[in-house]
Amino acid sequence: MIKRCLFPAAGYGTRFLPATKAMPKEMLPVMAKPLIQYGVEEAVEAGMDIMAIITGRGKRAIEDHFDISYELEHQIKGSSKEHLLDDIRELINKCTFTYTRQIEMKGLGDAIYKGRVLIGNEPFAVLLADDLCTNTEGDGVLAQMVKVYEKYRCSIVAVQEVPMDQVNKYGVISGKEIDSGLYMVDTMVEKPEPEEAPSNLAIIGRYILTPDIFELIEQTEPGKGGEIQITDALMAQAKKGMVMAYKFKGRRFDCGSIDGFVEATNYFYEKSKEK
Ligand code: UTP
Repeated sequence: MIKRCLFPAAGYGTRFLPATKAMPKEMLPVMAKPLIQYGVEEAVEAGMDIMAIITGRGKRAIEDHFDISYELEHQIKGSSKEHLLDDIRELINKCTFTYTRQIEMKGLGDAIYKGRVLIGNEPFAVLLADDLCTNTEGDGVLAQMVKVYEKYRCSIVAVQEVPMDQVNKYGVISGKEIDSGLYMVDTMVEKPEPEEAPSNLAIIGRYILTPDIFELIEQTEPGKGGEIQITDALMAQAKKGMVMAYKFKGRRFDCGSIDGFVEATNYFYEKSKEK
């Protein structure tokens, strides 16, 4: 039912300089697979087949990744390496990739708003590829969230408990737990100091949004850091109607940071050796 997944991928990725000087952060590989490909695979698993990617200057490699490279295909045809392209080929066949650019990096809320032309008037998912999520016990995180959406038909944010001294890196929610791990949001604060944080439930890079969010973003003034914050628009949505926070099952690696990226690499390396 949710067909489109939006990937805001216009950020500068300054924490990975100089690697991200000429290469998109989303193309950093964990093992041999770029972060954004993990994200697209998660979206496909959740039943989506239109990938709407918000790019910016210096991000062209993302478009080339989700396209055929005839020269390369020709070179490796019939060789022992041909199978290495199987997964990406399958994604290219299954999905439609659409793109638009964010001209000025005015924040995640603004990046999502730029996706309006690619999304239209329907509910959609948002996936931040630098949050790499995995669940070995069952459905991926977006697939879990689609199930919640099917029941409640409102915007949903994925949350995770984080140590209190780290809440200032995240949007933080509080709300009434209406089912195990499912909260009806009543407060949302962007990057609060620990003493101001309403809880330690931090929003990670997975959302399902209903399309009225676009008008709410339009009305959102720049917030923390002078950026248009999606958290502020979501808070407005929660006040008007309903927003849920879902404590997902599985693991999440913050691949936007060096520590998280190395952790993810070690994790997937160990997993690959188990096979
Ligand atoms: P981050 O703040 O983690 O990413 O934004 P960044 O700015 O690329 O990285 P650093 O902090 O400089 O290292 C979270 C996500 O939102 C996207 C980013 O691409 C990333 O996926 N984003 C952020 C945009 O697309 N546009 C923006 O204006 C801001």
